[in-house]
Amino acid sequence: MPANKKLLFLPGDGIGPEVMTEVRRVIDWMDRRRSVTFDITEGLIGGTAYDETGSPLPEETLEAAQNSDAVLMGAVGGPKWETLPFDVQPERGLLGIRKEMGLFANLRPAIVFDALAEASTLKLDIVKGLDIMILRELTGGLYFGDPRGVEELPDGTRKGYNTMTYTTPEVERIGRVAFDLAAKRDKRLCSVDKANVLETTVMWRETMESIKGDYPDIELSHMYVDNAAMQLVRNPKQFDVMVTTNMFGDILSDCAAMLTGSLGMLPSASLGAPDESGRRPALYEPVHGSAPDITGQGIANPLATILSYSMLLRYSFDMAEDADLIDQAAQNILDGGLRTADIMEEGKAKVSTQVMGEAIVNELDKLAA
Ligand code: IPM
Ligand code: MG
Repeated sequence: MPANKKLLFLPGDGIGPEVMTEVRRVIDWMDRRRSVTFDITEGLIGGTAYDETGSPLPEETLEAAQNSDAVLMGAVGGPKWETLPFDVQPERGLLGIRKEMGLFANLRPAIVFDALAEASTLKLDIVKGLDIMILRELTGGLYFGDPRGVEELPDGTRKGYNTMTYTTPEVERIGRVAFDLAAKRDKRLCSVDKANVLETTVMWRETMESIKGDYPDIELSHMYVDNAAMQLVRNPKQFDVMVTTNMFGDILSDCAAMLTGSLGMLPSASLGAPDESGRRPALYEPVHGSAPDITGQGIANPLATILSYSMLLRYSFDMAEDADLIDQAAQNILDGGLRTADIMEEGKAKVSTQVMGEAIVNELDKLAA
């Protein structure tokens, strides 16, 4: 069992610090009960970092991230910083750390817990038992392509432009992560593109085809992104793993998130390429944002962050047993009827962020007894 691995905590803005506090509880529990020790340091990111240092991604944060075995982040952003110049807005901190750490593979599972199937806006039989994985390319495409900007034209009007770029090695490496994920699941991979319009994604599709020979047990299909958005709400269970570009993945993952009833439930992992020593840069974060509307009220759902921590154990430290234990605890708590406001239904017990965190720890106690 790994000991003294280095974790960097980046609570960030809004409800970030509140939900991260609950993860601390789970880590302390593991510390006490299962003799796993992490060296945890805390850093600044986002608007809070800007307020203290003038940058949404201070140099020390990036350095600490690069020297850690895994990073766990809360959330960034909020109305307070929306009027700042574009290049110091909180989101620049998040995009910067993804790019600088080379976190090209963003895993966004969308799983419907049985206890929450009724909370989805879709019909029960459409979402019950849903378990899909969206793999979003995270360091290329429209988000990072050059040229980009807004220009003044001689006639006084303005022209804005961004560029969708991918190279074949970039597509190949995300493709290989996707095939590997599918191999551990239901062996079906759907690559989402817009090959009827965008040349970049014609190349994307050809590249996916060019590597499929290395994965003979995986069934590869292709779908245009507009159709994929429709199919996600029409019949989401047709999918197992979906792989797509940065921009399309941003949109489809929010769409998939809502199938599960609440953004407050969804964890994510962003992974880079392993170095020579086998260490893989990794950042874990809940998919929900900073939720400024409920910040400071103690009512945010900490489960997405706790489940992100479970992904951290699974993907960075190969601690599947402990990850399973946390996932099971979350499921049991929900089965038992505890709900934060975002997933509240009639007849259930509405609890605070803190009570939900404590309940997870109590459940871990029971499971480990
Ligand atoms: C996400 C978010 C970010 C993104 C924003 C906050 C920059 O929407 O992680 O999906 O667009 O990638
Ligand atoms: Mg998004």
